[in-house]
Amino acid sequence: MPSCAPPSPAAPAIGTRFKPEFPVSTLRSLRNPAISCALQSPSILHLPKQSPVSPLSPSQRSQSTQQWNPFKELRLCSIAGNFSPVPEQPVKHRLPVIGKIPECVQGVYVRNGANPLHEPIARHHFFDGDGMVHAVQFKNESASYACRFTETNRLVQERDLGRPVFPKAIGELHGHSGIARLLLFYARGLFGLVDPSHGTGVANAGLVYFNNHLLAMSEDDLPYHVHITPSGDLETVGRYNFDGQLNSTMIAHPKIDPESGELFALSYNVIKSHISSTFGFHPKQVVFKLPEMIHGGLPVVYDKNKVSKFGILEKNSIDAAGIRLHFNESDESLKSVLSEIRVNLKTGKSTRHPIISESEQVNLEAGMVNRNLLGRKTRFAYLALAEPWPKVSGFAKVDLSTGEVNKYIYGDQRYGGEPLFFPLNPSKNEDDGYILAFVHDEKTWKSELQIVNAMDLKLEATVKLPSRVPYGFHGTFISSKDLENQA
Ligand SMILES: [Fe+2]
Repeated sequence: MPSCAPPSPAAPAIGTRFKPEFPVSTLRSLRNPAISCALQSPSILHLPKQSPVSPLSPSQRSQSTQQWNPFKELRLCSIAGNFSPVPEQPVKHRLPVIGKIPECVQGVYVRNGANPLHEPIARHHFFDGDGMVHAVQFKNESASYACRFTETNRLVQERDLGRPVFPKAIGELHGHSGIARLLLFYARGLFGLVDPSHGTGVANAGLVYFNNHLLAMSEDDLPYHVHITPSGDLETVGRYNFDGQLNSTMIAHPKIDPESGELFALSYNVIKSHISSTFGFHPKQVVFKLPEMIHGGLPVVYDKNKVSKFGILEKNSIDAAGIRLHFNESDESLKSVLSEIRVNLKTGKSTRHPIISESEQVNLEAGMVNRNLLGRKTRFAYLALAEPWPKVSGFAKVDLSTGEVNKYIYGDQRYGGEPLFFPLNPSKNEDDGYILAFVHDEKTWKSELQIVNAMDLKLEATVKLPSRVPYGFHGTFISSKDLENQA
């Protein structure tokens, strides 16, 4: 989750709060006069910088309707193996299940990911892929599966043109060729060959269900509203601006206050100001430095001379002036360490210590707590075991009060992603619920959804999926009760 930028009158970091009470809106496309959002970068901690190398099974190609081989060029290296894309899958019902789906698991698990529609014509990074949502619906102890592209403005235009034309924020926009591509894109826009005015984002990173809307988000655009059909399929409604409340891009990791139902998010703009942001666990500063492109570099750079900072933003702030306190982080390592940070709001001093003992340290990513307790004191966190990096070999349930770590391992050559904790409601205990995770077997090239009891980490059920699910980003679970009121 991005932390706050240092307070600066020019820094346009915006704390945005959306109340759920407003009437359900008809989606309006926002006329965005600038295409500067093409340069905005998604969270850098989703997945790998390095290419994964996995054996390509014969069935992999047969599953794909896209006529290209992800191994044929080095430039495609970050979308190889089970990071490579799949075609859309219309909903398939009554999937084979091993074990028993718990009766209380009623609703839809959805997970976002990057899934390039077209073969890249230049450098490509895994983060650049078009957003695809994978959905498993549970109804009467039976399961269905579907996956669909989110019909973003860029996807629709590129599909019509039959090739990629929109700039890719991470893979392409660096060096002289990146500038050339950007200029070419501007020129195409001027001549009406492409239309960036309705957004350029990929909607591939996060998912949130807010105010009866499922929203797919990347950090470079407005969210997209995706509708779950009664049969468990997915349909894109369009860009969503919260009934006119949002006129800029939004981060892909908003948070919902479990008591008020309000959604909190941040916006930032790397063109209007040199705003700097830190992300996730990494303690060092990552800086947007657009002039680096002219010298052949990436616009997002690691600057060892910068010190990363944490900020505390007033809950209802609407701009960066609401940052009440910011303090330096001094850890010199680049390791991912689950840490407790205590802040004294009066003195501005902070302390930091690792939660897990040195002997048990492990690379943890994509963590979450019981969403009914978000923003409150929690005891348990569920995090992906991001080893061997960039793959995820299982997940850990961490007792934040004692540092005790309980691991659930997917098995030999089986990997997953973010573990989604679905809390029972009501529940007696904080960890009363289930963990859902897509798991892919790299030996058999089959994917499945596992449902694990969060209290004892015992596998309750495995849903066998009809097609491969690539490794991806964030997801959520929408209960059947919440779905009754879906917009
Ligand atoms: Fe993320």
